[in-house]
Amino acid sequence: MNMKRSKVIGSEHVSDAANRGRRIIEVMPGDIVTAQARESAERLSIALLDGPLERPAVVRADGATAARRALYRRNPKWLAPSAARVPTGQRLRRVALVGAGGVGSNVAHLLANSAAADEIALIDITPGLAESVALDLNHASGITRTRTVASGGTQLSAVAGAQVIVVSAGRPRTPGMTRAALLDVNRRIIRATAEAIRVNAQNAVVIVVTNPLDEMTVEMLRATGFPRAQVLGMAGTLDSSRFRRALAEQAGVAVSDVEAIALGSHGDEMAPIVSGSKIRGRPVTEFLSPEAIDHCVTDAVTGGGQVVALRKTGSAVLAPAHAIVEVIDHMRGARAGAVPASVMLEGEYGIEGVVLGVPCHLGLGGLIEVVELSLSAAEHLQLKTAADAIRGRLG
Ligand code: 2OP
Repeated sequence: MNMKRSKVIGSEHVSDAANRGRRIIEVMPGDIVTAQARESAERLSIALLDGPLERPAVVRADGATAARRALYRRNPKWLAPSAARVPTGQRLRRVALVGAGGVGSNVAHLLANSAAADEIALIDITPGLAESVALDLNHASGITRTRTVASGGTQLSAVAGAQVIVVSAGRPRTPGMTRAALLDVNRRIIRATAEAIRVNAQNAVVIVVTNPLDEMTVEMLRATGFPRAQVLGMAGTLDSSRFRRALAEQAGVAVSDVEAIALGSHGDEMAPIVSGSKIRGRPVTEFLSPEAIDHCVTDAVTGGGQVVALRKTGSAVLAPAHAIVEVIDHMRGARAGAVPASVMLEGEYGIEGVVLGVPCHLGLGGLIEVVELSLSAAEHLQLKTAADAIRGRLG
């Protein structure tokens, strides 16, 4: 007989479903749903449905797909025309990128090719740099057929009309340097940028990327006077990506088999969350030794520094650009679930008055809500330690 064991559905089950973008959880006869799980499900708009649910019938291929498959079987050299790209999520009217160096230019490139925005305004203090990137990108549109139009200039007032402003301007690290060492020099740049945003783009959501990330996000909040929802720091998506890749490499699996996030600061007090990390849906501890996991944690924390050490002049640009676009995609609804972002905490995780990387639900207005995961006591302490360190650095 096919007996299914009943299970306990707790709040972590619900957060996990939300992180995977699920909208329903099937509750089988005999399953126990905790009160916290019901509360989380309601908060995250996840329906708890009595199972067994009817499975949708298998969809048969339409005529065009069937024909393509038949042609391919006859001659594998035949190349099917690529399916029309269906843009998902809301298309933004205008995105401004303050900083047109490696990060800004790669963000522009990714946004233009994912049909995410009508206009991209690049701004950089170096004369000709933003203009050149914009022109270069527009030249590619004859091939990419993107409808996105890029413009470039040196004036910060070009942030006007932007729904989203990505700020990556600032001095990068040099080999051996900590991110925190950039505090004073980059603080001045953030304050000048914040003033232009405050005057010209009161409704924009600002994504801060300049290091030291958490401290600069606090500066941006203070100098614009914007509500916390409108100022996000991008680091957790990048750190999580580095952590997932390290776990995948150690375990010898595809990175798509790994679920893991990194929270805390974007620096030495980063908190890659081991307790919630999974490989093929199972705890990572079933695949890797504690030493191997420690190695992955260190790899995530030092990942940015490893790139700086190799490049010598400048920091990583490609992974950060992808991570920024991931945050924008969450905002415009092209990705579901929570994503780590640095936001001002107002009591979440027992922390208040400081910016820290935590899982968030995002929308076009920025932060919708902070998701409180159940962490181990040690991980919780790591978050508090990170918060204290950032407070200390800000004085
Ligand atoms: C990094 O971690 C630039 O801080 C950024 O690569």
